[in-house]
Amino acid sequence: MAINRENWTSRTSFIMAAVGSAIGLGNVWRFPYIAYENGGGAFLIPYFFALFTCGFPLLMVEFMMGKRARGGAPQAFRSIRPFMSWAGWLACLCAFIIVTYYCSIMAWSWDYIWYSLKLAWGGDAGNFFKHHVLDLTSGPGVLGKIQEPILIGLILTWIAILAVLWKGIASVGKVVLITVPLPLICLIILAIRGLTLPGAIDGITYYLQPDFSKLSNPRVWLAAYGQILFSLSLGQAVLLAYASYLPGDADIANNAFLTGFINCGFSFFAGFAVFSALGFLAYQIGVPVQDVVKSGPDLAFVTYPTIISQLPFWAPFFGVVFFVMLLTLGIDSAFALVEGFATPLKDATGIRHTRVVLWLCITGLAIGILYTTRGGFHWLDIVDKYVSDFGLVTIALAECVVVGWFFGAKRFRKEINDTSEIRIGVWWDICITVITPLVLGVTLILSLVIGIRQPYGGYPQWANWVGGWGMIILAILISVFLGMKFKRKETE
Ligand code: PHE
Repeated sequence: MAINRENWTSRTSFIMAAVGSAIGLGNVWRFPYIAYENGGGAFLIPYFFALFTCGFPLLMVEFMMGKRARGGAPQAFRSIRPFMSWAGWLACLCAFIIVTYYCSIMAWSWDYIWYSLKLAWGGDAGNFFKHHVLDLTSGPGVLGKIQEPILIGLILTWIAILAVLWKGIASVGKVVLITVPLPLICLIILAIRGLTLPGAIDGITYYLQPDFSKLSNPRVWLAAYGQILFSLSLGQAVLLAYASYLPGDADIANNAFLTGFINCGFSFFAGFAVFSALGFLAYQIGVPVQDVVKSGPDLAFVTYPTIISQLPFWAPFFGVVFFVMLLTLGIDSAFALVEGFATPLKDATGIRHTRVVLWLCITGLAIGILYTTRGGFHWLDIVDKYVSDFGLVTIALAECVVVGWFFGAKRFRKEINDTSEIRIGVWWDICITVITPLVLGVTLILSLVIGIRQPYGGYPQWANWVGGWGMIILAILISVFLGMKFKRKETE
């Protein structure tokens, strides 16, 4: 383990980096939709419950595990129970798998900045995205050729990641001072534009109209937990790696509260920008709001461009603002994911940081080329589903078990409290030992049952096996192998 480990230059850089990794595409294209689907304003109840019982406790776990181990995910697990280091490597691999496709979404965003200038999607943004940008094949079995504009975007993205990570954590600390506020500024511009359009209020009403009857449905609560986990970038090696550069006396609890509140506040606010625009679209084409509500890539690359075309003035400007926002939202999540793997690799192998980062970027780009093919989108969809349904939940569960049961919640809480401005109480122990593992366990079992019963998204079973189960099993095997291989190096 490196003895002269570099540190964050300030507390702000660490918080900004953690916030930057948390605030990503999901805040804009996932949260508002999930809230709308699961009870609107009433969803805030399970959401905040999940934030307090799972979000904050796990943020503290990851910050503290990384800080005390002074190493990334595998070292953090190993420092508590050596035989658990595989879970840390699994977190790294999941992060790396995610970043390979996350970057292709950013590649589309680069292209769409360009397309926005001329509103190149014309009158049918759906057709443009599907048949021109992606030129989607009939299924995952047909890959087809590489789409050059996407490849160019992908190369630009990886160059940006390499440039940021090259000089290590100090440059990350500087870059996030731009990549965190910039999307916020874009979002404010879009929210003001959205809220001053006709129909906006109808959209907001749809977003927030509380439906308390939904709260009796357990699925709504699981959705809240899933969103908290994904949104705070928990269980992905990212925060563990970042926390490993914290100085010994760094605050834990307060930093966790700040990170969680800023991220969730951003999500809530993003809902206003998104739903006001959806309300406007519904008004323009004369349909009810629920007919235009979308999430994910459909929202960003089909519905939003359609809305942009309908704007009364400066449409290209708002298009550029929107896609610059997506890019800057994504970039700090992307380099965080790469750093999540780079930190432990560097610590375990002793290879220089620049070398590790360079190789990871080259490998990531090479794998990412799969997603630039005409059939790539199918694979992106499948891989995303399995990694976020199984990967993150498994790792977060492992963290609860290792900290809450193996190490002892009370003992761990005392370590947190030793350097925290806010002292946390017994509630934390209950969350980490009982509530969170229970919810995560149920989620995992449910996903397994559903996943085994029916192939995801109507894709053929073999594609689910290759991009889903097969990939997960392979990642677990590689993690176990890495855990054994680097056994000695890490504990030296
Ligand atoms: N938390 C990010 C979001 O909400 C996604 C992300 C996943 C970021 C994994 C980093 C790691 O979009």
